[in-house]
Amino acid sequence: MNTSIDQINAPAAIAIADKIRSLELAGEKIFKLQTGEPCFETPDYIKQAIRKSIENNQTRYSYSQGIPELRQELAAVIMSRYGISINEKQFFITNGAVSAIQYAIQSIIEQSDEVLIFDPSWPQYANITSIYGGIPKKISSKNTGFIPTLELVKSNITSKTKLIIFNNPNNPTGAIIPKKELEEILKYLVDKNIYLLFDEVYDSIVYDDFNSIFQSTFYHELKEKIVYINSFSKTFCMTGWRLGYAIVPAKIARNYLKLIQNSITNVATFIQLAGLVALKEKDNHLQLFSNMLFTYEKRKNQLIEIFNQKKWIFVYPKGSFYFFIQIPNNQKNFVEMMLEKYKIAVVPGIAYGEDFGDYFRISFAIDNDSYNGFINWLNNG
Ligand SMILES: Cc1ncc(COP(=O)(O)O)c(C=O)c1O
Repeated sequence: MNTSIDQINAPAAIAIADKIRSLELAGEKIFKLQTGEPCFETPDYIKQAIRKSIENNQTRYSYSQGIPELRQELAAVIMSRYGISINEKQFFITNGAVSAIQYAIQSIIEQSDEVLIFDPSWPQYANITSIYGGIPKKISSKNTGFIPTLELVKSNITSKTKLIIFNNPNNPTGAIIPKKELEEILKYLVDKNIYLLFDEVYDSIVYDDFNSIFQSTFYHELKEKIVYINSFSKTFCMTGWRLGYAIVPAKIARNYLKLIQNSITNVATFIQLAGLVALKEKDNHLQLFSNMLFTYEKRKNQLIEIFNQKKWIFVYPKGSFYFFIQIPNNQKNFVEMMLEKYKIAVVPGIAYGEDFGDYFRISFAIDNDSYNGFINWLNNG
C-alpha cells in the first residue's frame, strides 16, 4: 500500500459534500453552505453546444494537449484581457483546475522537494504535493492580514524549495494579493531557481482591484518559471464538466504532456468543444457574469452587515464567494453542532491549515433555500 496517500486527509469540503448527499438521500433537509460551486446552472448556450457536438459525432479521441481551436481561443482571451501574447502550444487542457495543478506539481517536483503554500489554503495543494513525494511547507498568513508577503517568502525558502503556490483570489478567504506585496515577492524571485504556480480560478469573481500575474512588471522576467492555472468551473458554472487548463513553461511542457497521455489521454472531446463555445459567445458570457456578480455582491454585502452587527470577526472577501469567519465565542465543536442542531453545513477552518482551527468557511454562492435558511438562523439563532 502507498503510505503517502494513506496519510493525507480527504479534502474537507468534498468529504462534507459527499456526507450531505447521503443525508439528503436519507430524507434530511440541509442548508448547504459548504458548497464550493456557483449556484447558477450552466448557461443554455453551453448546454446546446454539447448536444450539438455529440450529435455531430465529436465523440472520438482528440489531441492529448487539447484541441487547437480551444487553446487558440484561450490565448485570445489572455491577449484581450491582459495584452499578453502566449503561444497556444503552451496551453494544456485538463480535467478541471485540479488536474492542471496535479500535473504541474508532478512535472516539477522530485522526492523531498519543498513546496511553499500559504495558509489558509485549498487543501489539495498540500495533498497533491505529498502524494508525489514532495514536502508541503505550509506558511501561516494569520499575522500578515491573510496575504503572502516578501518576509514570509524569504524566511521559508530553503535550498530544497522547488515551487511556490499562489492562489489569487484565495479560497477560503476571498483575499486578493495587493499589487505591492505581489511585486515585492516577484522581484525577489526573479533570480531564484524556483517555479511559481498561480491558481486564478476565481479571477472572474472579484469585487475589488485584482492583479493577475499577467499584470505584474516581473511577468516577462519570470515567465519561464510560471505555471498559470484556470478553469471553466467557477467562471462558466461548469463545475461538473471538469474542464480546466494550464499555461506551462517550455522546460516542463514535455513532462506535462506525458502525464496527460499516460492518464486521461485527452479531456472529453465534446466537453472541450462546448468550452470553446463558452468562450466565443461573448454576449451570453457577459450576461452570465453580470447576473452572477450582481447576486454574489448583494449577498456579500448583506452578510457583512449582519456579521458586523453580531461583531463576528471575518476576512472581507475581495474575490471568490466565501467568507472565512472566526468561530463566535470560540465554541467547541461548532461545525458539528451547526450540522446536527441547525442542519447548516459549513467547512471547518482546520481543513485550510492548522493555524485556523478557530475559523470556519461558508459559501454564499448557494441555493436560495440554503441562503435564506442561514439568514434566518443568523437573525434568530
Ligand atoms: C483554489 C481552487 N483551485 C482549484 C479548484 C479546482 O477547480 P476545478 O473544478 O476546475 O477542478 C478549486 C475548486 O474549488 C479551488 O477552490
